[in-house]
Amino acid sequence: MPRWLFWTVALVIAIAMVPYACIARARVDTSPKPRVHLIPDMDSQPKFKTQKGNPLFVDGRAMRAHVPGTVARGWLKEDDHFYRGIVDGQWATTLPMEVDRDLILRGQERYEIFCTPCHGLSGYGDGMVSRRAEQLQEGAWVPPSSFHDAPANTRSDGHLYNTITNGIRTMSPYASSIEEKDRWAIVAYIRALQRSQAATVEDVPNEVRGTLR
Ligand code: HEC
Repeated sequence: MPRWLFWTVALVIAIAMVPYACIARARVDTSPKPRVHLIPDMDSQPKFKTQKGNPLFVDGRAMRAHVPGTVARGWLKEDDHFYRGIVDGQWATTLPMEVDRDLILRGQERYEIFCTPCHGLSGYGDGMVSRRAEQLQEGAWVPPSSFHDAPANTRSDGHLYNTITNGIRTMSPYASSIEEKDRWAIVAYIRALQRSQAATVEDVPNEVRGTLR
């Protein structure tokens, strides 16, 4: 092999190694400087990231708190009855909407999703989670209230609504997973459950009373 060919091949091989050497170095490099960036797009831009400081403001926070009293568009929850279950400073004794079959059916569906695990299908507090907890006998389980005994069966609509929104004693709140209208639908369904368990002969239509045993 002529000498010049040997050296040319050796040089080409040596140059071919350079990209690999660069990659290997970049993998372990801990330089704070950004890497070589041929097409930067918008990857690097002057901005403040969440939870970082910004000396421009007196409190030094880049994330600004809401100006007190401001409300995002569409979030003005003015209606105390609908959003808080309160009428004239008291727990509402009515629902803020007309109660029809659709509302109660919606309430049943939501109730069976969110409440039955603890309160049971008929609202006696005998849901699967509760039964299992009683079986385990670990001691710290507070049984879910029955809707057919005091105090739960004496609560007003607004109070029930508020229990779903904010929870009560050891029961956790459901405001983040059940929207306002559905909370009222559940209240309507609890009322239906309560009536179903406290029915009297008067609730049975006259013409079928004779068939009762
Ligand atoms: C994880 C179990 C659990 C789920 C799910 C649950 N609850 Fe409860 N609930 C409880 C427990 C426990 C109590 C009793 C709390 C206590 O006495 O400390 C309770 C109490 C109540 C009471 C009685 C409050 C009073 O006035 O004394 C109502 C009403 C109620 N729950 C409604 C609901 C509704 C409606 C849902 C579904 C949206 C629901 N709960 C879902 C566990 C649950």
